[in-house]
Amino acid sequence: MITLLKLGGSVITDKSTPYTTRDAEIARLSKEVADALKAKPEMRMILGNGGGSFPHQPAKKGDLANGIKDAWQLEHLVETARSAAELNHIIVDSLVKAGVPAISIRPSSAAYTDKRDIVDFNVLMIEEMLKLGAVPVIHGDVLIDLKQGCSIASTEKLFMYLAKVLPVSRVIIGTNVDGVLDDTNKVVRSITPANFSKIKPHLTGASTTDVTGGMLHKVESMLEMSKVVKEIVIINALTPGNIGKALRGEKMGTVITNG
Ligand SMILES: Nc1ncnc2c1ncn2[C@@H]1O[C@H](COP(=O)(O)OP(=O)(O)O)[C@@H](O)[C@H]1O
Ligand SMILES: [Mg+2]
Repeated sequence: MITLLKLGGSVITDKSTPYTTRDAEIARLSKEVADALKAKPEMRMILGNGGGSFPHQPAKKGDLANGIKDAWQLEHLVETARSAAELNHIIVDSLVKAGVPAISIRPSSAAYTDKRDIVDFNVLMIEEMLKLGAVPVIHGDVLIDLKQGCSIASTEKLFMYLAKVLPVSRVIIGTNVDGVLDDTNKVVRSITPANFSKIKPHLTGASTTDVTGGMLHKVESMLEMSKVVKEIVIINALTPGNIGKALRGEKMGTVITNG
């Protein structure tokens, strides 16, 4: 069975300043993943890194969320794709340095969309990598779209696709808050389809530039994913040790289930 782990863009970059990585966090997270893998070498894992202050900025500048309508947008499409790949490269470098057998998978080269739905994602290579014990690392990206030129695919959206076609048992979403917070800033321990409508008014997008919709998007995609995945958590990856603990099965953050 496969674990999907997201390293949020809010953790690995400073989303308030374009093109800034948080190198100490990236190194720490890489070590936590490496240690968890050392302790449990049979664990099969696909990582995904968010875009943070890299692709979100040009995607917003180019108004790419609804595709491409005009020629002026092309340079922003190019920069979104380039910067997403650049950040992923930085993450994979760090993981490899820490001893994780990480291999980059560029979603824009492996998939495309049709009216924003991912219609084809070549996961065969991901499955073969997993058999070898490698750790594929995908990332939030801009994909070519058959109807609207391009579309934004968040890591959460890509994970949703992967969870439908691969035997995924667990999803860990690492971000910059302790989980989903209620109106008094307390962590909501459990979200199900039954209590979602009560929590939804407290969910908004990110406070920083995030073209994929922040926490609301996370919870909506995780609820959809909970139809096929048993264990889904949103945790604070800025707290040292949390990612390692979550990979070892410790409970924390917000758990999302199908009821
Ligand atoms: N109810 C909520 N609980 C927690 N975070 C929330 C909530 N509503 C909005 N957010 C925002 O969502 C952000 C996390 O989403 P996002 O910035 O997209 O993270 P990432 O870059 O890790 O994907 C938080 O930092 C916070 O600003
Ligand atoms: Mg986000």
